[in-house]
Amino acid sequence: MAKRIVPVFMLAALAALCLAGDGAVPAEGGAEIPAEEKYVALTFDDGPRRATTERLLDGLRERGVRATFFLIGRQIEDNAALVARMAEEGHQIGNHTWSHQRLDNILPDEAAREVARTEAALETLLGGGEYWLRPPYGQVPEGADFGVPMVKWCVDPRDWESRDTEKVARAILDNVEPGSIILLHDIYPTSVDAALRVVDRLQEEGYWFVTVEELLWLNGVKPEAGRMYRSGRG
Ligand code: NI
Repeated sequence: MAKRIVPVFMLAALAALCLAGDGAVPAEGGAEIPAEEKYVALTFDDGPRRATTERLLDGLRERGVRATFFLIGRQIEDNAALVARMAEEGHQIGNHTWSHQRLDNILPDEAAREVARTEAALETLLGGGEYWLRPPYGQVPEGADFGVPMVKWCVDPRDWESRDTEKVARAILDNVEPGSIILLHDIYPTSVDAALRVVDRLQEEGYWFVTVEELLWLNGVKPEAGRMYRSGRG
């Protein structure tokens, strides 16, 4: 699903950059986009969770922002409308295993099942596609290949620990740079608030928020199955 969006987006981005010259052009959502490219990806794990994810989607839509959601498989069916909305609004949707298992701590077939079952749930709901994997805790067994690209992060504000909007936003703003993949969890109200605060601030600084898949393509990285990506640079 996200796959189809990439070329369209890239054309739009290139067109915007060509038109921009040294100045700025208005982007979708009304933000000013400077000619300099500053792309970054927000990623959200452990959802969907209706109360918080819905509010996040509203906030992202208002700001013209696309993000990446790594979903827990067993939470998909009860939140089907929310997941369908994510896809419709151009977010990338990925796999965070069926029951949030640390994949290097369980038997190989169990790990494969955790991934496959979530993939099947996403395919049932959204149709075929490539659902990239974010392994819980960023851990996979040595040499594991689940048939899709895997995504870690390079900016981790440990939002689950502090649950403090100001602290989380500050930790992101202090560490972000073009190409960053930022880790958040859309199951905490404080993380939703922090994410939207960070978007407002970084859009003012000329950042564009894109999906992980778009971020890699925009950095000239061709995603490969079985490889782990930590930032836009690979
Ligand atoms: Ni997780």
